[in-house]
Amino acid sequence: MNPSFLMKASDIRKSYGAVEALRGVNFHISRGETVALVGDNGAGKSTLVKILSGATRPTSGGIEFDGKNVALDNTDIARELGIETVYQDLGLCSNLTVAENIYLGREIVRRLGPFRMLAKREMHRRAAHVLKDLSINVPRTSANVAGLSGGQRQAVALARARLWERSMILLDEPTAALGVQETRRAMDSVRQIRNEGTAVVLITHSMPMVMEMSDRVVVMRRGEKVGDVPTSKLGSADAIVSLITGATERWIEEPTPFEPRIAEGAAS
Ligand SMILES: Nc1ncnc2c1ncn2[C@@H]1O[C@H](COP(=O)(O)OP(=O)(O)O)[C@@H](O)[C@H]1O
Ligand SMILES: [Mg+2]
Repeated sequence: MNPSFLMKASDIRKSYGAVEALRGVNFHISRGETVALVGDNGAGKSTLVKILSGATRPTSGGIEFDGKNVALDNTDIARELGIETVYQDLGLCSNLTVAENIYLGREIVRRLGPFRMLAKREMHRRAAHVLKDLSINVPRTSANVAGLSGGQRQAVALARARLWERSMILLDEPTAALGVQETRRAMDSVRQIRNEGTAVVLITHSMPMVMEMSDRVVVMRRGEKVGDVPTSKLGSADAIVSLITGATERWIEEPTPFEPRIAEGAAS
């Protein structure tokens, strides 16, 4: 086995009643690598991401993280390992503020004698800092998420994933609901996260984004992995589309050690 794999999932199966959402999928990712996960609707992309993030348990199959077998029984276990996820629905609570969403479930608590108090000001300060770091315009960290645009919500979800020590981030169609400008901002954030050495799994239907952002492309079709190819070998987006539709049956390359790219000079 390639020792540089950060995560390796073997023969993952998932059935929902009679529906076989995943039929024996092998997936791996190295430290610092960006893998685009593509496929038609219903191909099994979200199911795979949910399994890798502990949100769903596989029917069978094994997952190794950092060379050790792990049971990702819930998202807390995954987060402990440094696996953060931005789900398709973003998983934000619209009745809470920006800062509360970023800190949900991991609030900073201060002890004062026998009392435990929420360090609200500290949370707002740090939330504002991480948003600024991602060059994201969110009006106030005390604003309710309900009043934010799609792009701003996306930013909050990314900021939440970014604030924590993480080795891997899973993004399920992060820009599906965004306009052109917002998509560009969100992609800048992802690029920044990637350049810090975090492994990224990016689900997207945008072929230009796949070609620009990914080191490797994994193609799902009807619950199976039918493509696993370094992006540089694909040549063009057409090759990916052929795998998605089935015009190309299968193209799976042997894993090779991932060589981190040179960080692109501080993009904007
Ligand atoms: N919670 C669920 N219950 C039943 N079937 C599901 C559930 N989640 C996904 N599926 C089914 O599993 C298959 C794969 O879905 P999904 O992973 O969401 O695909 P994708 O993200 O590639 O569009 C689809 O046939 C879908 O209907
Ligand atoms: Mg999906």
